[in-house]
Amino acid sequence: MDIINWKKIFSSKIAAIEFSICDRNFVLKEIAEHYPDDRVYFWNQGYKYLQWFTENRLEVLPDYVISSEAEALELTSSLDGVLVVEGLGQIESNKSLTYKLENLYFDSLSRTKLILADCLISIPDSLYSIIPKVKVKLPNVSEIQNFLSTEKHSNRDCTQYIGLSYGEIKLLNQRQMSENDILAYKTAKLAAKGLRITPAPDVESIGGLDLLMRDLNKIRKLFHPTAYERGLRPPKGCLLWGLPGTGKSLTAKMLSRILKVPLISCNWNELISSSLSKSLQNIDLVFQLVDSIGACVIFFDEFEKAFFGWNSGSAGGVMAKQAGYLLSWMQDHTSPSIMVATINRLDMLPPELIRRFEYVWFFDINLHNGAMYEVLKVHLNLHFPGFYEQFKDEDWYRIFSQYRSCSPDELGKAVRRVHDEIFYQNLHIDLTVEILIEYLIKERQNFKPAVSDRKISDALAKIRRTADFARPVQGKDRSRFASPPIRLYQEKKSSLPEGYTPAI
Ligand SMILES: Nc1ncnc2c1ncn2[C@@H]1O[C@H](COP(=O)(O)OP(=O)(O)OP(=O)(O)O)[C@@H](O)[C@H]1O
Ligand SMILES: [Mg+2]
Repeated sequence: MDIINWKKIFSSKIAAIEFSICDRNFVLKEIAEHYPDDRVYFWNQGYKYLQWFTENRLEVLPDYVISSEAEALELTSSLDGVLVVEGLGQIESNKSLTYKLENLYFDSLSRTKLILADCLISIPDSLYSIIPKVKVKLPNVSEIQNFLSTEKHSNRDCTQYIGLSYGEIKLLNQRQMSENDILAYKTAKLAAKGLRITPAPDVESIGGLDLLMRDLNKIRKLFHPTAYERGLRPPKGCLLWGLPGTGKSLTAKMLSRILKVPLISCNWNELISSSLSKSLQNIDLVFQLVDSIGACVIFFDEFEKAFFGWNSGSAGGVMAKQAGYLLSWMQDHTSPSIMVATINRLDMLPPELIRRFEYVWFFDINLHNGAMYEVLKVHLNLHFPGFYEQFKDEDWYRIFSQYRSCSPDELGKAVRRVHDEIFYQNLHIDLTVEILIEYLIKERQNFKPAVSDRKISDALAKIRRTADFARPVQGKDRSRFASPPIRLYQEKKSSLPEGYTPAI
C-alpha cells in the first residue's frame, strides 16, 4: 500500500502530509514502513504525553509531557527518529511557530525528521521551499481489491468504494453499509464542499437506446481491475449531443448510477467570472475537488455556453481559453473521473475540442417503434404498474402511430399528464386497460411535438447531415414491432392494424 508520494518528501527534513482523520493509522503505518530503522513518534493536542507508534498502535511515553505545539517542536533537538505532529495546519497564522520551523530546518544537529499532519495544511510563503506538502492518495480499484481481500466481508463489490480513502473503506465495510448508503455518503461528502449533486434519475432505466446502453456498460467494465491490469482505462470525456428532451441529462445520471459514483453538476456560468485569473482559479478548485473524490462523473450541462463567441473576437478568445483549460485538464488528469457534457448545437464547439471527447453520442429524436415501446414501458410502469403488459399489439400500433416523432421527454410527459387526468376524474379507482389506452391516444391531441416546429426540424436535418462521426444511441429495430418494408405494406395493406403508419 503506497498512499503517500514519498518521492516528493522523503529527502526533506520537514514535510507536510494532508490526510483525513479516519486515515491516521494508515498514514502512521506507512511512515513506519518507510523508516524501518527509526522510531515513529506522534503527538496532537489531545495527548498529554508523547506517543510511540509500535505494532500498529500508539503507546504512551510517560517521560515526555507535552502541552503545546511549540513544546512538541522543541523535542526535535533531543529525539532521534520521525516525529509526526498533528494540528499544525494553520501555521501561517502563527509567527513564532513559523520561525521555529525555519530554525529547525537550519539546525544541523537535529536528527529528527518532522512530519506535520493535518486535514488541511497551509504553508506560509516563507517556508514553501523547505516544507514540501503531499496529500494522501486515494486507492485505485485494484488497490481497493487487494485491501478488501485482507478485510472482513471481502466479497463486496470493490467498485462502489472508488473515491474513498482506506480509512473510510475500512469503516464503511465494517459497518456493512449498503450500496445506496455508500453512494449517499460520497454525495454528502461533496455537498459539504459546495458542489451540487445532481438528483437521482426520475425513471428506473433508459428505454430504447440500446446502443447507448451497450456503450455505458462497456465504460462500466473499464472500471474493473482486470481492465486496469490490461492497460485499459475509462474514457475521460463524453459529449452528449442532441435536441432538447432526447435523454442527455438522463444518460449522465444513469452513467453515475451504473458506475456507482457521484454525479457532480457544474454550472459553467457560475464558474466563470469577468477576470480570467479568477475564472481559472474557480475551475482549478473544481479540479482539486474532483481529484480528491477520486472517481465521479462531472457534468456540464449546455456546454456550448462555455464556447459562446469562441470564434468572434477577443471576448470569445477569453471564453475559449477558459474552456480550453478545462479540456486540457480533462485530458491530463489521472483520477478515473469522467467529464460528461451536453450540447444542443455542435457548431458552437471548436472542432479541435470536439475531438478531445472520446465518446460523442448523437441523440436523435426519431424513435423507431421498438424504442418508443421501451420508453413508454418505462413511464407506464412508473405511473400505471401492471397495465402495459395487457396492451395488445394492435393497441401498441395505434399508440405508435399517434406518437410518431415525439421525443422521449414528450412521451414521458404525456404519460404523466394522462395520470393527472385519470386521477382528477377519479378513474384510477377502477381503471381498465381500455380507458388507459383511450386517454393515451386522446392526450396526443393536446400538444404539438417540438419537431413539428419548422426551426427545430431544420436544425435536426442539419444535425443529421453532420452527425456521421457521432455514435448513434439507437440501433435497428429488432423488436416485434419493427416496421414491415413499405412494399409489403402496400401489397398487404389490409393485414396491418387500423391506424398504423409506418416509420419514416
Ligand atoms: N430513453 C429514455 N427512456 C425513458 N425516459 C426518457 C428517456 N429519455 C428521456 N426520458 C425522459 O425525458 C426526461 C427529460 O430527459 P432529459 O432531461 O435527459 O433530456 P435532455 O436531452 O437533457 O434535454 P435538454 O436538452 O432540454 O436538457 C427524463 O427525465 C425522462 O423522464
Ligand atoms: Mg438536459
